[in-house]
Amino acid sequence: MENEMQQDILKVLLTEEQLKARITEMGEQIGQQFAGKSPLFLGVLKGCFVFMADLIRACPIKSDLEFIAVSSYENATVSSGRVQITHDVQQDITGRNIIIVEDILDSGNTLAFLKDYLLTKGAQSITIVTLLDKPSRRTKAITPDLAGFVVPDEFVVGYGLDFAQQYRNLPYIGVLKPEVYSK
Ligand code: IMP
Ligand code: MG
Repeated sequence: MENEMQQDILKVLLTEEQLKARITEMGEQIGQQFAGKSPLFLGVLKGCFVFMADLIRACPIKSDLEFIAVSSYENATVSSGRVQITHDVQQDITGRNIIIVEDILDSGNTLAFLKDYLLTKGAQSITIVTLLDKPSRRTKAITPDLAGFVVPDEFVVGYGLDFAQQYRNLPYIGVLKPEVYSK
């Protein structure tokens, strides 16, 4: 029987099996690239948390992790989104090789801001890893160094991604039924 979240899902875009297989590959690739470099995984809350947990366990090298939380908002008179930090990194990142872990790269506003911010704070290198890439909506010149899947211009939920803070605990990525938005 369908559970109360499943009945709101129009279609499954990425199954648990697809996610697991791709994230295993991504972890191995990062492991090869960063072996001996002790990178700092920096997750962008909240959406990253499920992906990050699986990615770091698929990456067999010495590393540590931090989280950063941002809120983006649109200023009525400025068309570009502005970003504010609501939880900052808890350690000195001078000279560190940072791997930013994002759930989805959409307009690019969040990552364009974070990249500049981290470089200003003295990071040696920034590598952008995103589970999903939605290139059709990009407004900033940001491309991921590693993306799990390219997705179409549809609003997706699950596996960490939310609609109005819900559906993060769906174990797969799905598209919501339109009537859920207009409730
Ligand atoms: P950007 O700054 O426009 O690239 O937005 C990135 C953030 O917007 C992501 O980290 C998500 O939290 C959110 N986001 C963008 N597209 C979706 C989506 O389809 N579903 C859920 N959240 C999304
Ligand atoms: Mg979100």
